Amino acid sequence: MRVERKIVHKERPVLSEEAKVEIQKVIQNYPEGKKKSAILRTLFIVQREAGGWLSPDTMDMVAEILEIEPIEVYEVATFYTMFNLDPVGQYVLEFCHTGPCMLVGSDQIIKYTEEKLGIKMGETTPDGMFTLKEAECLGACGYGPMLQCGKYYHEHLTPEKVDELIEACRRGEVKTN
Ligand code: FES
Repeated sequence: MRVERKIVHKERPVLSEEAKVEIQKVIQNYPEGKKKSAILRTLFIVQREAGGWLSPDTMDMVAEILEIEPIEVYEVATFYTMFNLDPVGQYVLEFCHTGPCMLVGSDQIIKYTEEKLGIKMGETTPDGMFTLKEAECLGACGYGPMLQCGKYYHEHLTPEKVDELIEACRRGEVKTN
């Protein structure tokens, strides 16, 4: 019996000239024949260009750029939680739920945010604006509860701060890169 494979992102992203230059600069940091060492930074750049996530086709493209086997890219992309393997919203809110943040109320903040947005962890709002994710310790244990949105941390979270952040995102005022 033939099994249909669900293809959700058939076409590869078209990299901007800026991204191509950025990737080449990263590769040049490593000795000849060691392009694989540029894998993390390259995945970040390509994920950004691909709308925030990495499809199998996109990971295959990274393998070609770095002249390595696709499996070597899949291994890395599936290990680190900062790489998204499914489509995500415009703003990915990654909540730390490790011990120290939990002790100062991350569970309550997560529940509050889920109820406010009407989605659960791992889901995306129907308007495509927000995705909620849980993360392990993000290295800001003294500032919990906290979340990461793009490159930026939002710390000492309270329900009021979550409200402000969500409204600022909706107004397009929150930087992620
Ligand atoms: S436990 Fe949350 S940042 Fe370390």
